[in-house]
Amino acid sequence: ATKEVSALPLAGQSLLITAGPTREAIDPVRYISNHSSGKMGFALAKAAADMGATVTLVSGPVNLSTPEGVTRIDVESAQNMLDAVMDNVDKKDIFIGCAAVADYRISDIATCKIKKSAEEMQLALVRNPDILATVASLPNRPFVVGFAAETHDVEAYARDKLKRKNLNMIAANDVSVAGLGFNADANALRVFWPHGSQDLPATDKLTLARQLLSLIVK
Ligand code: CTP
Ligand code: CA
Repeated sequence: ATKEVSALPLAGQSLLITAGPTREAIDPVRYISNHSSGKMGFALAKAAADMGATVTLVSGPVNLSTPEGVTRIDVESAQNMLDAVMDNVDKKDIFIGCAAVADYRISDIATCKIKKSAEEMQLALVRNPDILATVASLPNRPFVVGFAAETHDVEAYARDKLKRKNLNMIAANDVSVAGLGFNADANALRVFWPHGSQDLPATDKLTLARQLLSLIVK
């Protein structure tokens, strides 16, 4: 049995993965969010655990059950997610940022429910911290893998994020293709690293997760 365990491709490796959307409060009863289901991040957590890794999964609000053997930390906002990541990133070998983090939050969250009055209203927003770039800038950083959700010019934008955020690898998905990626069961990825790339054609997210992790192992 010992021999079997050590033969697993991620045996002895610890992974930190973010998944799902974040939820940015407007007032006590309302929020801004996105359509991320968390399925890709949860598939990565399951596949990594199956491959022998120790897995910590930081998840925004999703309707998914925790894969067996995975340590899950639930968060709401981007700031909560950053805090949970910073509390858990120490000594991790691999970080995968799969979450659809809200780029902006409300500047001043109302403490009471906002009442409707005028015909028009504006919400002031402020940029959220970039969790992936923050991890990539740490001393003794893990191997850092990002995702990129794009609707056009997928390779150019993905390569720009790879470089700008100083990542080891980025997995891009074209979210303009109906039935793939965001909130879907299937996905297709185009994976880029500084001197190479690989297309992972459309399939279910668990299969894609295994293929992406195999690339990371390589
Ligand atoms: N990401 C993050 N923290 C943020 C925003 C994004 O960690 N505040 C991570 C995502 O988890 C993903 C990667 O950055 O791994 C790319 O996210 P994406 O939304 O595609 O890119 P952005 O850098 O936010 O740029 P834009 O939305 O303008 O394309
Ligand atoms: Ca974004």
